[in-house]
Amino acid sequence: MRTQVAIIGSGPAGLLLGQLLGRAGIDTIILERATREHVLSRIRAGVLERGTVRLLEEAGVGERLHREGLVHTGVELAFDGDRLRLDLEDLTGGASVTVYGQTEVTRDLMEARERAGWLTVFEAQDVEIHDVETPRPSVSFTAQDGRRTLACDFVAACDGFHGIGRRTVPERVLRCFERVYPFGWLGLLTDAPPATHELVYANHARGFALLSMRSPTRSRYYVQVPLETRVEEWSDERFFTELRRRLPDAIADGLPTTPSIEKSVAPLRSFVAEPMRFGSLFLAGDAAHIVPPTGAKGLNLAAGDVHYLSNGLIEHYRERSDAGLDRYSERALARVWKAERFSWWMTSMLHRFPEMDAFAERMQRAEFDHVVSVRSAAANVADNYVGLPF
Ligand code: FAD
Ligand code: DHB
Repeated sequence: MRTQVAIIGSGPAGLLLGQLLGRAGIDTIILERATREHVLSRIRAGVLERGTVRLLEEAGVGERLHREGLVHTGVELAFDGDRLRLDLEDLTGGASVTVYGQTEVTRDLMEARERAGWLTVFEAQDVEIHDVETPRPSVSFTAQDGRRTLACDFVAACDGFHGIGRRTVPERVLRCFERVYPFGWLGLLTDAPPATHELVYANHARGFALLSMRSPTRSRYYVQVPLETRVEEWSDERFFTELRRRLPDAIADGLPTTPSIEKSVAPLRSFVAEPMRFGSLFLAGDAAHIVPPTGAKGLNLAAGDVHYLSNGLIEHYRERSDAGLDRYSERALARVWKAERFSWWMTSMLHRFPEMDAFAERMQRAEFDHVVSVRSAAANVADNYVGLPF
């Protein structure tokens, strides 16, 4: 088998890269470890920055997104019952975010790839990357009919945090930065109209809570929980009782308990691997970095990487210039670190940490009050929330 760009992973990063390259006439094959159904069933991110929306349009999958996605021009922060609406449009000079689930983004991209007839090998096991320090790299894997080798010009590792791509880079080359937070998020999906029209991020003495949604009839809610939390211990009734306790009364009073259709615990982590290139191997998305979900940056960062990487690869094939590829890691990392800072800051301001003392609590409150009273501080949060340009 041969292709120009071998892509490992058919999450949002791999699929979007495949789509942008395919539309530029570049041949790709995606190798995905899981089944198509498994990839499509993972409930994850829900908020798209304007730059991500633009990129999805470029990839030819903007139609359903614009029809069904919910444009949000504001977002709310709450602190012990006090509320602040950030008018994103006003504070950023016209920008907004779009609520459209990662499951839908993935489905649209997968269907577009299938329509174009570009190959994805699902259930590709034991993927190994070879010879990325030479101009003739390859990827081997076990398919249903046995062991296969895929020869290529470049390998794009879009295989998430637990993938093989980052582990292929020698330890002497890779530097990793990490912070693991001492809590997780318990998320619940329910077929009920959202409690509020816009997202609400709440800091409360009992812990963080987030009200989000997927559509006018489907809501996504989260509460901060200890890391060792087991989902089975959380009935829907217990979840909603806890959620209501952490919200301002005006919101809690109108929030009924409704049956969950999914419930899961996600750990919170900040992580960056540098550099994002080793020879002809490129890392993109969660393969290279993780942010805690506060601020909704994970999927959007993956899109940013793909923007730089697809441009670099298109330049390579069209103009015979490697300038974009040579700058890929530096450009992507500059944007990654800004989103890492914002996600870390939002997480630090909104969660209750086990070791917090009274001073730390007052500092959180001071951060909130600062955003409430200083327009430039609110504008700073809004600019980051709608997404820094790429
Ligand atoms: P992924 O979506 O992880 O895709 C990687 C793909 O590679 C997967 O399909 C995987 O099966 C495949 N793969 C892995 N290893 C191999 C291998 N060896 N061989 C072949 N294929 C392989 N972000 C937010 O903004 N908001 C959220 O609420 C949010 N919630 C999240 C909840 C969870 C539980 C997780 C894990 C992440 C969440 N994120 C959230 C982050 C966001 O979903 C990710 O940033 C986004 O999925 C990154 O896309 P990706 O394509 O880089 O990686
Ligand atoms: C969602 C997740 C987030 O991490 C966030 O900041 C906002 C929304 C969500 O799943 O809807």
